Amino acid sequence: MEIDIVTLFPEWFAWMTEQRHVRNAIAAGTSIECVNIREHTPLGAGQVDDTPFGGGAGMVLRVDVLDCALRARYEVDPVRLREQRRVIALTPGGRLLDDELASELAREPALTLLCGRYEGFDERIIEHFASEQVSIGCYVLAGGELAAMVVCDTVLRKLPGALGHEESAIEESYSQALDGRPEYPHYTRPAEYRGWRVPEVLLSGHHEQIADWRLQRSIERGDRGTSGDAGRREDDSKE
Ligand code: 6GU
Repeated sequence: MEIDIVTLFPEWFAWMTEQRHVRNAIAAGTSIECVNIREHTPLGAGQVDDTPFGGGAGMVLRVDVLDCALRARYEVDPVRLREQRRVIALTPGGRLLDDELASELAREPALTLLCGRYEGFDERIIEHFASEQVSIGCYVLAGGELAAMVVCDTVLRKLPGALGHEESAIEESYSQALDGRPEYPHYTRPAEYRGWRVPEVLLSGHHEQIADWRLQRSIERGDRGTSGDAGRREDDSKE
């Protein structure tokens, strides 16, 4: 798989590409490359953005600048690029990233991730260059870079060889193997710590009972996920 990240902050991604599972993916043949938008601007003084027409706060990434950056990278009119590969604009209003979308993207031979900054993209970038918009959640980030890293992380770990064990990506939270439910809880040594015992069934060696227990816990967690305080801990201070 080939992932290109079009960004004003390519140096942010140096950290990501040093991480073990990303390095594994790269060793297995995936490429992750950054296109530095500023290096391709036709404007003076490295200008890449501008104030919004109609007024308002912040700066908007210019369509002509992105046109030049994409053209330099792919040597085609960026209008045609999305016929060749998925060109994803990272925006807070985009399609919400979930396990299904991650799997879908992991099957692509090539992705281009467009990171906007400040107030975002000139709308014509989204309209004419992007094939789609993706968001990583219902909150606003200062830019698309962290979202692009989240997309890379979840997509890369679905590629063969990225994880130590092939099974761990299959039966993990939100995957189809668990019918979209969150994963069951895990425990390791010590079997008892500060009086907190690991569930006996997991120590029993009885594989069927263990599988059943895990299924039940996964279902319970899934049910909790629909209530308002999903993920909140019960008060653990009085003991
Ligand atoms: Cl993809 N971009 C920005 N700027 N904010 C976000 C986001 C993306 N996803 C959630 N919030």
